[in-house]
This record gives sequence, C-alpha cells and structure tokens, in this order.
Amino acid sequence: MSGTALTLDAQPGGRSALIALPGVYRPQADTRLLAHALAQEDLGPGSEVLEIGTGTGALALDAARRRARVTAVDVSWPAVVTARLNALRQRLPLRVLHGDFAARSAGRRFDLVVSNPPYVPAPDVLPPSRGPERAWDAGPDGRAVIDRICDNAPALLRPGGVLLLVHSQMCGAQETVDRLTEAGMAADVTARAAVPWGPVLRSRRSWLERAGLATGAEEREELVVIRAR
Ligand SMILES: C[S@@+](CC[C@H](N)C(=O)[O-])C[C@H]1O[C@@H](n2cnc3c(N)ncnc32)[C@H](O)[C@@H]1O
Repeated sequence: MSGTALTLDAQPGGRSALIALPGVYRPQADTRLLAHALAQEDLGPGSEVLEIGTGTGALALDAARRRARVTAVDVSWPAVVTARLNALRQRLPLRVLHGDFAARSAGRRFDLVVSNPPYVPAPDVLPPSRGPERAWDAGPDGRAVIDRICDNAPALLRPGGVLLLVHSQMCGAQETVDRLTEAGMAADVTARAAVPWGPVLRSRRSWLERAGLATGAEEREELVVIRAR
C-alpha cells in the first residue's frame, strides 16, 4: 500500500476555539490527520459534504469554512449540541443531525463523505449504546462502524464522489481497502502517521495482546487515511 507519512502539527483554522461538552471526543491526532487530507480535496462552493460522527464538529466546520454545504451526524446528543454550538460560535452554516449515520443520511448523496469513526478494538462484541466510549469502542476487531461505512459508501456518494476515512492500522487498513474495492470503489491509503498509544489502548494492553492485536513492546500505533472514489 502506498501512503505519505505526515507530521501532525497542523491546526486547521478555528480548531483552537472549539468547545466540547463533557464526554465529547476532542480533536486529536486522528482528527488532524484527516483534516490535512480534507484540506487537499477540491471542495467547490456548494459541494455537498457529509461528516459521519462529528464530535465537536471540527472537520465539518473546516468544510463549511470552504463554503461547502455540510451535514454532520452523530449518535451522541452531547456531540450534536457541541457541534451546533461551535457552528454558532464560528458563524458557519452547519446542519447537525442526531442518530446513526445510515438512518440519518439514507436516500441522500454527497460529493464528499468524511469520517473519523470509532475504531478501537474492545472486548465487548456490541459497540456501547451510551457514554463517551461510543466515540472509540468498535467491537473486538475495531471494525463495527468502519465496515458499515464501507458498505454504505457507494450509496452515499455522487458519481466522482470521494470517501475519506481515518482509522488505526490495528483494525486493518487492507481490510478497509478490500471492503471498499468489493463495494465497487477505487481505494488506497493516502496518508499515515505513527502516534503514541493513548490511555484507552494502554488500559487494555493485556486484552489486546491476548487478542493478537498488539505485542508487549508496542507503544505506538499507526493511523491511516483511506481515500476511495
Ligand atoms: C472518534 S470520534 C470523532 C469525532 C470528530 N469527528 C473528530 O474527528 O474529532 C467518533 C464520533 O462518532 C460518533 N459515532 C459513533 N457511532 C456512530 C454512528 N453509528 N453514527 C454516527 N455517529 C457515530 C461518536 O459519538 C463520536 O462523536
């Protein structure tokens, strides 16, 4: 797989001014890597953009700042309220919907779909239905939401439309590329970055090792951006 390694010091406009209600995922290295990829996309005024799992709205607002027409979806009410507040504070138009992305975007098509979904492997088979863990826990292989995004992507995109997805190599970049290819899309890894393990990975190190997803010496994970069209 190809890919460009990036440093993660970019702070796209407005990011520092974002607020986050308790329990809402704050922009992190994965957000920044995806923001960098989003900045390279050709977004004309009036382009229709969907963000799946918007959290604070950071990425959706990056697109809105470029005059795209942006719809953002999140299953978490605190995230929805946070994204709406950030849009108001930045005086940017943003449609923020509450619910599962598939239900809330059904029947609509977009020029660009962007997502930093939950992707951390977790012992529980079912993803959590409440709490801040909904932002990261994604079943034993970390793919509970990623696979659904891959399967839904062709129906969400207009002809020539682009999907941008970030996740950890721990849950399989090649699996995502293969799944998107099976869905009829041309997919590739376009960016990579190695980042230190965060507190969630550190707290479940022994389970990750037993599951064969990590070795004892590992302290960094690789993030990947996958672009499909
Ligand atoms: C890793 S956070 C990313 C937040 C933000 N986009 C960012 O990059 O900083 C993932 C977000 O996806 C939301 N989410 C989880 N499952 C979802 C689903 N099925 N549909 C829509 N949003 C979902 C979570 O509530 C959380 O806000």
